Amino acid sequence: MADIKRTHNCGALRIGNDGATVTLKGWVDSRRDHGGLIFVDLRDREGIIQVVLNPEIGQIAHQHARDIRSEYVIEVTGKVSVRPDGTVNDNLPTGKIEVYVDELLVLNRSKTVPFPLDGSEDISEAMRLKYRYLDLRRSEMQKKIAGRAKLVSIIRSFLDSNGFLDIETPMLTKSTPEGARDYLVPSRVAPGKFYALPQSPQLFKQLLMISGFDRYYQIAKCFRDEDLRADRQPEFTQVDMEMSFMSSDEIIEIMEELFVLVFKEVKGVDIPRPFPRIKWHDAMLRYGKDAPDTRFGLLISDVCDLANQAEFNVFKGVLKNGGVVRGLAAPGITGYSRKDMDNLTEEAKIHGAKGLAWVKIMEDGAYNSPITKFFPDGVLDKIKERLGAKDGDTMLFLADSEDVVCAGLAHIRLHLAGKQGLIDDSKFDFVWVTDPPAFEYKPEDKRYVAIHHPFTTITKETREHLETDPTKTLTDAYDIVLNGTEVGGGSIRIHERELQDKVFRALGIDEDEAREKFGFLLEALEYGAPPHGGIAIGLDRLAMILTGSESIRDVIAFPKTQKAFDLMVDAPSDVSPIQLRDLYLKPTIKPKKD
Ligand code: AMO
Ligand code: AMP
Repeated sequence: MADIKRTHNCGALRIGNDGATVTLKGWVDSRRDHGGLIFVDLRDREGIIQVVLNPEIGQIAHQHARDIRSEYVIEVTGKVSVRPDGTVNDNLPTGKIEVYVDELLVLNRSKTVPFPLDGSEDISEAMRLKYRYLDLRRSEMQKKIAGRAKLVSIIRSFLDSNGFLDIETPMLTKSTPEGARDYLVPSRVAPGKFYALPQSPQLFKQLLMISGFDRYYQIAKCFRDEDLRADRQPEFTQVDMEMSFMSSDEIIEIMEELFVLVFKEVKGVDIPRPFPRIKWHDAMLRYGKDAPDTRFGLLISDVCDLANQAEFNVFKGVLKNGGVVRGLAAPGITGYSRKDMDNLTEEAKIHGAKGLAWVKIMEDGAYNSPITKFFPDGVLDKIKERLGAKDGDTMLFLADSEDVVCAGLAHIRLHLAGKQGLIDDSKFDFVWVTDPPAFEYKPEDKRYVAIHHPFTTITKETREHLETDPTKTLTDAYDIVLNGTEVGGGSIRIHERELQDKVFRALGIDEDEAREKFGFLLEALEYGAPPHGGIAIGLDRLAMILTGSESIRDVIAFPKTQKAFDLMVDAPSDVSPIQLRDLYLKPTIKPKKD
């Protein structure tokens, strides 16, 4: 049989194709030899169809079919028929039909694959990543990667039709700071000098606004050498956007339109607009973090004033040293034993807390706790009211520095919500987190660092603090958080040279350093820079949530491990001495193994 043009995808055939002669090409998912009849489940990216080899219909084809094995690549031509009564497979979209084959061609053979591709076994992620091309053959992965492609396509067409221009920016460039380490690329033509791979296209997109492009977007690769977590990769993709002459409200509005469209088209879900907004400081207070999961309550309250009335040294001591006491009311745990409470305390300690104080409110309203004795009459009632606690709830408190209390209670909140089944997995809760501070002080480095990035504008109302107490300044920035994951972030930028200078100064970047690192930007700001702002959506994170994936790696075709390795191509890897010589580099001194 000559190689014939494919007429259909395997998984696309339906009962309406009954009687059609079709040519299919794909992989042998399984083969069952019933002596007379051989059944082959043939698979391609659309799905699986059963093809039947009957020696009376195609004798040579039947003979070939005897030799084929799983994952062979074959081509078949035959007739679509309705399956006989009793043989319909309701689990397959193609399960009402089958194809009677009269010609079969083996296009390629396959060794036995290192793990089954039907999801019947738990496969280690290391194995999946080493044989990623096989892992990607699995239907679950095919769906996820196709889902991501659909997402990109929806986003592109939305942005195209809203006047955004797709413009590429360089990969070999100079450091664009986003708070991580740079990946560096040594230059051959300039010995001893390096390019940096972009942590984001931030500066280029701002320059494009100065160039007058008005609305830009790019599906951009970003590179960040940082500690990886479940939702982080060293190289990841942003839907990067920048707009001129738009306020943060206008940018937020157009982004909401985009998210609503995406969720409608991908999930068939109507997300109500406008999305809720919360100010950064309130998010930290009420949720303990700047990416709050708003699908459930368990809100945190500050109780410093009331805690100070207790004769409890732990609280008193912390408050005297400028710390805070905050708490939340947890339902359903008054039955916890001492041991259960100790376990909960251990959870709080993960983030540095020194203990967890608790007061159970029994169903009759009585307080039950080792620390009730420290509270004067009425104070616990006031705390109960502040926390919005009901009879049957347990009040949990942390006393420590604000950072530790926030991190500890945020963790306890999520931990308990998971344990008590308070999280509705079918929900998609968006929230904008706005007006974060511009800077935070890093005591270990004895300097201020930008919370977002140093190109974010300072709100007019707080600019006066820039030179006196930079931590009091707020920015016109906005993060979009979905179910507790930051899926995007952006801001209105500084378009005035003087303000940019001041922000660099606040960050301890002197004029020479600013000129050396960002001279091109500072100069550009002097040639009619329009007011502008933008945002970048973490495409991988959004795809992860939309496809219901546990890990960001599941929506990236060729991801890296938590240690930033590519197990398939074996990267990073050694290079030859000649390559190093060409780059004027010496072989590295390898760190000793632990
Ligand atoms: P930011 O650093 O907040 O902003 O990044 C934008 C979004 O990108 C995603 N993201 C990541 N995803 C996977 N792996 C990572 N390592 C990773 N780091 C970030 C997050 C995040 O919200 N230039 C600015 C945007 C702007 O101001 O317009 C920027 O890069 O979902
Ligand atoms: P102690 O006086 O150390 O026995 O602590 C009494 C209770 O207070 C215990 O339940 C501790 O877990 C709790 N506790 C201790 N330190 C803190 C703290 N920094 N914040 C909240 N609770 C604490």
